[in-house]
Amino acid sequence: MSPKKKSAPAKKPATKKKVADKKEALSPAVAKQEKKTQKSYQNVRGMKDIVPSQGGQWLRMFDAARSIAESYCYGYVETPIVEQAQLFVKSLGRGTDVVEKEMYVFEDNEGTKIALRPEFTAGIARSYISHGMLSLPQPVKVWTVGPLFRHDRPQSGRYRQFHQFNCEVIGERNPVSDAELISMAYNFLRDLGLQAEIHINSIGTFEDRQNYIVELVGYLRSKRSYLCENCKKRISKNPLRVLDCKELGCQEALEDAPQIIEWLSAASKDFFMSVLEYLDELRIPYVLTPTLVRGLDYYTDTVFELFVDGGKEQSQSALGGGGRYDGLLEEIGAREATPASGFAIGLERVMLALNKKEKEEQEGSDVAGSRHPAGIERQFFFAQLGEQARRRTLALIESLRKSGIQLGSSLAKGSLKAQLELADKMKSTHSIILGQKEVQDGTVIIRDMDSGIQEIIDQKKIEHHLRKLMK
Ligand code: HAM
Repeated sequence: MSPKKKSAPAKKPATKKKVADKKEALSPAVAKQEKKTQKSYQNVRGMKDIVPSQGGQWLRMFDAARSIAESYCYGYVETPIVEQAQLFVKSLGRGTDVVEKEMYVFEDNEGTKIALRPEFTAGIARSYISHGMLSLPQPVKVWTVGPLFRHDRPQSGRYRQFHQFNCEVIGERNPVSDAELISMAYNFLRDLGLQAEIHINSIGTFEDRQNYIVELVGYLRSKRSYLCENCKKRISKNPLRVLDCKELGCQEALEDAPQIIEWLSAASKDFFMSVLEYLDELRIPYVLTPTLVRGLDYYTDTVFELFVDGGKEQSQSALGGGGRYDGLLEEIGAREATPASGFAIGLERVMLALNKKEKEEQEGSDVAGSRHPAGIERQFFFAQLGEQARRRTLALIESLRKSGIQLGSSLAKGSLKAQLELADKMKSTHSIILGQKEVQDGTVIIRDMDSGIQEIIDQKKIEHHLRKLMK
């Protein structure tokens, strides 16, 4: 017996309403109207675009980072943007703001707890162990640059996605490494035109700190009523954080607080003195800052932060920070003691400082108005007039580009005036002009943009001529 064929369910007649809906959906007028009312998409809160007008400066920071890292013989590393969440919990400390409040943590499809990296150090330390870098000649000096994520309250200079230039020296405990790292961070900012102020302190070993914390907690309890609500909670949870609270009341209450430096072991004191002596040798100015403790648990001995404009009032105004972390690698699985130190500089904050400086320098001048919108600058600009000239220009630019000469151009523009205006915006010193006549003669005009003086040269000699003019 053949199975009974199921008859297909009879199609319901379309209701009048549905037909009308379909008609409406197809109507271009309605679709247009709907498109108009559709909400446009915004960036995720606290995450910013870099737009072309900022692109030049952004890339200059990357170039400066690479250049300084290579000059100090650092190798480049890249670690994944995600790591097991536990790596950060173990490294940065359970009670820290970053781990407790700011980490983006989620479960992947296999149920593993993953975190978007809130900083580089833990991932780089993990990578050093995973790749057996202990067997390489020590120390291993590495640098990296890239995005990090902290779910903080966004405001100027504090974002949920931000970028750092980060350097680590792993496998060496010597004050000279710390001094060299500090000088590198200082010189990176100086190369970009920023004068940094270095705030420095030592927080000793874990043991030194335990004794100090007992003393500090006693002091904080005696001043409890003067502290802000946050700091009242911190007394038992993370008393060191009270030291860098920015609330005026807390700062006043801390005036007579015991200073960590007095609790350092003789070895840590000597170590710190040597770091300072090396900095003196390098003529790098610093400010001894007894309340500087940093917000991550892995630090031991030297800690430092970099500021511009002497800005200390707000915690977010530190452009960078770092220090020694001699216990971290063992804590996350290294088979032997592996001392290390490093720093990171926040690139968004550097960019804010550079913009502020540029604005101050430009006050009263109209330089900004005459600049290319994407900040593109080219010493030479190729302008053309007429269809034949455009074709010839296309070929000439291509051959110059192949020989390593970059030129500005706007091939779609017909007007010579508009093209020369663009050349001005690109700060070109010379324009190469090709018109109908020059196409026939096999020549071009080279125009000095400042004096307006023009000379005619053979098209075959452009490259040679431009090389002579090159800055
Ligand atoms: P950090 O002090 O947490 O240190 O961050 C270093 C820098 O990153 C800060 O000074 C700041 O410029 C920037 N930064 C931090 N959070 C944000 C944010 N939400 N928005 C914008 N910029 C931010 C560390 O990350 C350590 N891993 C540094 C280190 C390396 N220590 C040893 N080696």
